[in-house]
Amino acid sequence: MRPIWMEGHDVKKLIAGNWKMNGSVAANRALLDALKSGGAGSGCDVAVCVPAVYLSQVQSLLADSPITWAAQDLSAQEVGAYTGEVSGAMLKELGCRWVLVGHSERRQYHAESDALVAAKAQRALAHGLTPIVCVGETLAERDADQTMAVVKRQLAAVIHAVGHCVSELVVAYEPVWAIGTGRTASPEQAQAVHAVLRAQLAAACGSSRVPRILYGGSMNAANAADLLAQPDVDGGLVGGASLKAADFLAIVGAADRSIP
Ligand code: PGA
Repeated sequence: MRPIWMEGHDVKKLIAGNWKMNGSVAANRALLDALKSGGAGSGCDVAVCVPAVYLSQVQSLLADSPITWAAQDLSAQEVGAYTGEVSGAMLKELGCRWVLVGHSERRQYHAESDALVAAKAQRALAHGLTPIVCVGETLAERDADQTMAVVKRQLAAVIHAVGHCVSELVVAYEPVWAIGTGRTASPEQAQAVHAVLRAQLAAACGSSRVPRILYGGSMNAANAADLLAQPDVDGGLVGGASLKAADFLAIVGAADRSIP
């Protein structure tokens, strides 16, 4: 039995491929052609998070497809003298449905704070983009038993900033130690964190729908089904395995088959 506060949460799974700084015009076309002919997006929701320079190309390649697309970051600013930045309005104009905010690589290599991540989430919502808010602990934080405190702090900043729009978010739990390392959180470890995040979101949502919570960190064709079978794992944010059509399609297939 699901607790009563979970009844309203959207149980259609979402699998989002995070290409990171990979791709080329030719490689993108080949990958998306394979995903389209493999039927991605006909069951669960499927998205690709692509480098901003390719959004226009991806928009035209996916025009006749149920696969949606996302950017990997956006500016917290609206418009103006911010060299190198990309605004929410620009992403919206190129048909983005979603945008990643607060990915651990942004937090780590670009010193993005909880406050900046929260401002970005707010800016995305203002432009009708769904922010996929990434949270996750480092190995040192896990070893110090701080996992729950860290992810709750990261999420609280966003909840505080977006106010009544919490139900319009997607959250991705990505333990930093599992990203790109081949070391995945066990289904039980993922579920334990997702349950905490779900309760935090439910408390903030009141009677509105509770957002989906994706797992990310070395999700692959072999481990996806077990992770997606957890009651609070509503999908995946897939890095490395999203660059290979067969692997990504296998993960999408596992989501299509998983029973909420
Ligand atoms: P990974 O990356 O699947 O390669 O671990 C996931 C992510 O960083 O979104």
